Amino acid sequence: MLTLCSPAKINLFLKIVDRRPDGYHNLASLFQTISLFDTLHFEINAHDQLSCSDPTIPTDHTNLVFKALNLFRNKTQIKSCFKIHLEKKIPHQAGLGGGSGNAATTLWALNQLCGKPASTSQLAEWSFEIGSDIPFFFSNGTAYCTGRGEHVRSLKAMPQENIWIIKPKEGLSTPAVYRGLNLSKLSKHVPDEHLESFLSGQKHYFNDLETAAFSVLPSLECLQKELLTCGFHTVLLAGSGSGLICFGNGHPPIRQGLFCREVAFLNRTNDQWYLLKDEG
Ligand code: C5P
Repeated sequence: MLTLCSPAKINLFLKIVDRRPDGYHNLASLFQTISLFDTLHFEINAHDQLSCSDPTIPTDHTNLVFKALNLFRNKTQIKSCFKIHLEKKIPHQAGLGGGSGNAATTLWALNQLCGKPASTSQLAEWSFEIGSDIPFFFSNGTAYCTGRGEHVRSLKAMPQENIWIIKPKEGLSTPAVYRGLNLSKLSKHVPDEHLESFLSGQKHYFNDLETAAFSVLPSLECLQKELLTCGFHTVLLAGSGSGLICFGNGHPPIRQGLFCREVAFLNRTNDQWYLLKDEG
């Protein structure tokens, strides 16, 4: 049995560059994994079996864990079957990359259980076939991603910051948010220059998907305004939402239906998957 932690990600800035002929968007974004995580248990089994602690999550072939399993088998021609259990803690439809991280974790785990037939860069390259955000998770946890998300440049781990992740009960669909983008109203940041100044300490957080997300879910903008009165200096949309990332020494309101979690940045070392401190 192999048990691994599957972290969520945030985008410290997310610039939409343009819309591509295939309907996807080129982006330039600083990604960071955080200490909010699901846990996955893997073992070789006589047949495939996926279960999940959250009954609202489908455990059929539409689940990215299953897609990762089939991808791994196709690429390696290994015929083994697996029993996988997913303990879900990362809220879904939040823009936190929970499903993408689960897929990356699955590829890493199966590769370990099968005697490492693939390199980490192969796993990253394969993973892009099933989702734009998945290759990022094979970085060290801090990376500048461009293209659709497949060009991943690992960066030095960043200093910790005080962060809260907040999510209302309503989720957001990523394609719906991208469809709502008004390309003529995007930020004017020059991505590479922005990265350079960000890394030199001028931390300007932004997310070009914010306006579109707020037009799909107007109450999210009200929640952002409310959180800005709670002591946070910045409240930013997480990915395509509906999660919000709060920076600073604030205290979020406690109320039913509002997911609130204080988190830290999390990074991994080359030969290990993401570990939480209490896992050693
Ligand atoms: O690649 P993935 O399946 O995660 O993308 C989900 C949706 O997000 C796509 O169908 C597309 O609408 C949008 N997307 C995009 N450009 C990207 C990544 C995602 O338009 N770079």
